[in-house]
Amino acid sequence: MSEHKPRKSNESKPPKAFGWMAEYVDEASLLSASRKVRDSGYTKTDAFTPFPVHGIDEALGIKPTILPFLVLCAGLTGMTTALLMQWWMNGVDYKYIISGKPFGITPASIPVAFELTILFSAFTSFLGMFALNQLPKFSNPVFTNPKFDRATNDRFFLYVSSADKYYNRESVKDLLAATHPESLDEVMEDTTPAALPRPILLGAMLLVFAGLIPGAIILNMRAGFSNLPRLHVFFDMDFQPKKKSQQQTTVFADGRTMRPQVAGTIARGQLEEQDPFYLGFDPAKISATTGRSDLMLVSTAVQPPEGEPAPAEPAPAEPAPAEPVKTEGTPENQPPAEQPPAEQPPAEGEMPATEPATPTETVPAETAPSQIPATPLEPAKAVEPAPAAVPAPAQAAAPASGTPALNLPWVEKLPIEATEAHMKLGKLKYETYCSACHGYAGFGDGLVHKRAESLLQPTWIPPTSLHADRVRTQPVGQIFHTITKGQGKMASYATSITPKERWAIVLYVKALQRSRNASIEDVPVEDRSKLEEAK
Ligand code: HEC
Repeated sequence: MSEHKPRKSNESKPPKAFGWMAEYVDEASLLSASRKVRDSGYTKTDAFTPFPVHGIDEALGIKPTILPFLVLCAGLTGMTTALLMQWWMNGVDYKYIISGKPFGITPASIPVAFELTILFSAFTSFLGMFALNQLPKFSNPVFTNPKFDRATNDRFFLYVSSADKYYNRESVKDLLAATHPESLDEVMEDTTPAALPRPILLGAMLLVFAGLIPGAIILNMRAGFSNLPRLHVFFDMDFQPKKKSQQQTTVFADGRTMRPQVAGTIARGQLEEQDPFYLGFDPAKISATTGRSDLMLVSTAVQPPEGEPAPAEPAPAEPAPAEPVKTEGTPENQPPAEQPPAEQPPAEGEMPATEPATPTETVPAETAPSQIPATPLEPAKAVEPAPAAVPAPAQAAAPASGTPALNLPWVEKLPIEATEAHMKLGKLKYETYCSACHGYAGFGDGLVHKRAESLLQPTWIPPTSLHADRVRTQPVGQIFHTITKGQGKMASYATSITPKERWAIVLYVKALQRSRNASIEDVPVEDRSKLEEAK
């Protein structure tokens, strides 16, 4: 065994030489020496300096690295991968309309493409730098020279390796000596034994073995069965003296572990939950009839309790006579067969219905006609997607769109004034947030809808026409609620539109509706004769 040890063999053989190393006191002499060595044709050279020396690469004749080129290739690979992946996923494998966007590669694919470009490039530059520098390198023959320690302090070293194809021991020595170095030494082989000391080796083997134990235990557990109780490493963490929220307790007289709110508490965000201005309905009316305002938070849809008799007013035999796209594409949106009319009085313990919401026109007659903006003047009947004859007022029958009708004590009167400023604000916000789907005139024919229809995608739910009876008869509070909470397939806009702007939109929507459904009574008396003349 022992004769294989490098220590023994080194004693007989003289250590190998790896080239020459010259020491300089400043970088100017290092640079001029480097240029001389480079001009003599040596390429296997290296310089060691205590700080980066400008121009040393050029002086040593180091060629520019190919790393940037590798990074470029990796970046392009990343970009191509991301684009192909998205094209395959959304354009071929799983076609699904998202906001009416076209399939395949779109501007929406750019973020992912960008991210993969960066990811691939970063990994390539990091790992490529290591590979090209042949790192990590734990030992270098230049370390054997004790003078070399000053390379990190105040000395500059130039090394010519014996691996160079023009290397000749004597001529390199002469060449370096002619550059007037502080010292000139031959770099000798590192004769310290390369093998790890035995204790370290043993320790490492022990660690590796110990590292396998958890894996072995887990494998054993997964393969076998045990009737023993689980090990409790921290016993007092597993078994704490505590009560969970729904458990009973003897600490309080009412036996409830979960304590009710102290009277008068208003938690963060709850202040607005009490105000009709932020809700579109009046929660006080709900608690006044039931004494339980918390019901409102559980469910806002009126559902009959199980086993209740069918509603007295029969719903239409076919609840969804219109819009076949909806009924076929989204069965989960179908109303249950026993869906009651919204006016059905609720049973005990159910959501209370206050007086049925009567559709009231809230835009004052004298403001509405003059305030109606001139823009939305598209042909009305051609694009109206709602059925020509809605069987009954939307409030009284199961809605055709399949979403359960809400019956809450809606705000009936706009809480903001119908001024021109509010109308303008409403028009601006409507055209920003709603027109893309509902169209500028509110007929549900916005660009997103047109695009989705042209793609013939079965999952698309058409935006409701705001002139449909279902929407026209809604109190202002309900439209406000639709914008705030969303409705069916329409998302909530509460985060992007402030409550005041939402009311302004409602004002504008009401004006739009009035513009398509006005009677002679809406025209001021003194102007009616003008209309007659114009006929
Ligand atoms: C991304 C498209 C889209 C946008 C934008 C949009 N809606 Fe809708 N809206 C819909 C769809 C789809 C429905 C039908 C929902 C259903 O029945 O599932 C709908 C339904 C409605 C309804 C009828 C609700 C009911 O009771 O049936 C109203 C009112 C309405 N939207 C108003 C608005 C207003 C106001 C805005 C602007 C703040 C707006 N929508 C923005 C898609 C949209």
